[in-house]
Amino acid sequence: MDAAQAEEALDWLAHAVAFHDRRYYQDDAPRIADAEYDALRRRNAEIERRFPLLVRPDSPSRRVGAAAATGFAKVRHAVPMLSLDNAFSEEDARDFVASVRRFLKLSDEAPLAFVAEPKIDGLSISLRYEDGQFVRGATRGDGAEGEDVTANLRTVGEIPPSLPAGVPSVLEVRGEIYMRRADFAAMNAAQEAKGEKVFANPRNAAAGSLRQLDPRITAGRPLRLFAYALGEAAAPVADSHWGVLQQLARWRFPTNPESRRCESVDALLDAYRDLGARRDALPYEIDGIVYKVDDHELQRRLGFVSRAPRWAVAHKYPAQQVTTELRAISIQVGRTGALTPVAELEPVTVAGVVVSRATLHNEDEIRRKDVRAGDRVVVQRAGDVIPQVVEAVDRDRPGRGPAFVFPEACPACGSAAVRPEGEAIRRCTGGLACPAQAVERLRHFAQRTAADIEGLGEERVQAFFDEGRVRTPSDLFTLAARDGKEFPPLAEKDGWGPTSAAKLFAAIDARRTLPLDRFLFALGIRQVGEATAKLLARHYGAIAALRDAMAKATDPESDAYRDLVAIDQIGDKVAADLIAFFAQPVNAAEIEALLRHVVVTEVAAPVAAAGSPVAGKTVVFTGTMERMGRAEAKARAEALGAKVAGDVSKKTDYVVVGADAGSKATKAAALGLKTLTEAEWLALIGEG
Ligand code: IVH
Repeated sequence: MDAAQAEEALDWLAHAVAFHDRRYYQDDAPRIADAEYDALRRRNAEIERRFPLLVRPDSPSRRVGAAAATGFAKVRHAVPMLSLDNAFSEEDARDFVASVRRFLKLSDEAPLAFVAEPKIDGLSISLRYEDGQFVRGATRGDGAEGEDVTANLRTVGEIPPSLPAGVPSVLEVRGEIYMRRADFAAMNAAQEAKGEKVFANPRNAAAGSLRQLDPRITAGRPLRLFAYALGEAAAPVADSHWGVLQQLARWRFPTNPESRRCESVDALLDAYRDLGARRDALPYEIDGIVYKVDDHELQRRLGFVSRAPRWAVAHKYPAQQVTTELRAISIQVGRTGALTPVAELEPVTVAGVVVSRATLHNEDEIRRKDVRAGDRVVVQRAGDVIPQVVEAVDRDRPGRGPAFVFPEACPACGSAAVRPEGEAIRRCTGGLACPAQAVERLRHFAQRTAADIEGLGEERVQAFFDEGRVRTPSDLFTLAARDGKEFPPLAEKDGWGPTSAAKLFAAIDARRTLPLDRFLFALGIRQVGEATAKLLARHYGAIAALRDAMAKATDPESDAYRDLVAIDQIGDKVAADLIAFFAQPVNAAEIEALLRHVVVTEVAAPVAAAGSPVAGKTVVFTGTMERMGRAEAKARAEALGAKVAGDVSKKTDYVVVGADAGSKATKAAALGLKTLTEAEWLALIGEG
């Protein structure tokens, strides 16, 4: 795989994982088996490991779950609920420990303790106690905001309703709600006997049981808890993770008896192997071992990258494999026209989950694996969750069908599908004339994380499109005005009534003002995920400035281009997609049309936080930092409100020059920029 192929694959994976996250977290209706899903994330991680420079701001590795579903009140977590990075091999696990040491500037010999604890396959929750009384329980949701499931959690016998005297006045305990295998089997049998819903696996059963709107139903479900972390705490509980676990146990929270404190990477791996050997005999399902740096002060220094702590990693257990028949290979057309081959499988249960489809990624992958319709294929369930097609096992059988011929025309619109030299993905050239792309773009625009038009789900988008009522995002904003003119009134359509139609029009009206970052993300520009959209919005402030800059940046020698690629995380590839998007006449026309109906609000330049002399400043680090290491220095600068850029430009405020600095330092001098030594920088931010 070369960099261009890696980039295409990461693009595809980011969208695929986001899609399945929504199906799973918001709709409780996964479209693919857990193992299949996990295989996507795993593949993403594998590619990112090989091409670290291509990690996208909207990569699945930087995101947790999806936003909260409706039906429950929302709860904003005082301390965000994070996700974990994964390690899939012992080498990854060693790399994790090495990277912790590097970040902390610890030698290989310096003592460094971890806690190894089972990664429980359930769902995480946060339990809030005030003055020792359980007052609120919430799901993780998107990590920032979850659902209030207090009434349901009160029915879980293992959650203490009150705590002994002397606990901090505010205390949030976090952990995993899960179901034991035996309880799950008994419950499913009872459900089946009653003719009610059966669950695919203990984790889905736990999630489905906790998210009941009627707590009496939850009360009848065998839910349990393992506590493993703290959220907000009014007073410190312990100075190490191990100390926290012990304190939680004293307060009568169930903690996992398999957790161990380990003083070396070998001890961690022993714990991993030991539990792996006993995994199937445990009364509950686990999908890996979580390694956590024990010392809280070190955890604080390590901090976070996106939404995962640098001080922890989940070391996953390997895939589970089964074979099934590959019935057919079908082609899906995505928002940006990418043609993705999908394996249509004879449904098969892989570790409790029924799998009927799996991605085949792209043309080369099919050729490399030489999988054909009618083959028996190995389907893999990776780590915690899921399956992908690994290989065909009966390739030598007589009478095997012909090799799959990848279409050179788009199956949705018939336009030529081309695959540029050096790229892995074949794309439909129909653009917005292709119904599949146009529908995907509309869906993308309306979705929760983009324009967030409530009540405009995928089926409705498809129906509006098929009917011709809505073809482009801007059509949405004239929907009410056109209603009953070109088309019969929406309220009279099947499945609609006056109330639902009025509600949809109101939901659209509510989005006639959109913040710049959402607007940009909603446009569906290739490679511009939520995080990139935020970066761009913050950098350019207003849509006019951004459009102007994109027009000028068509010249790669221009200041506008240099300014664009100097934004941290934006490289030549993303820049090329952005510039091409704005340069396309159809896109320009659609943006014009949108701006006739939508007010795009500007993003205020970050206000200098009191006491932070670097808020809003652009800083570039170059060379080796002695005191804290480059990554920690960068994280600290960002925490203080600075923008950290990858390269120097006229907009750079400070260049911090470490040891052995190279061309950037020379360039900074040439541009007459302010350079600082590491010591001067530390003095500036008050750490000198
Ligand atoms: S620690 C910042 N410990 O795994 C650390 N998580 O991928 C956050 N999980 O959302 C989590 N067992 O649902 C932690 N012993 C354990 C866990 C555990 C299961 C889940 C949890 C979390 C997810 C992260």
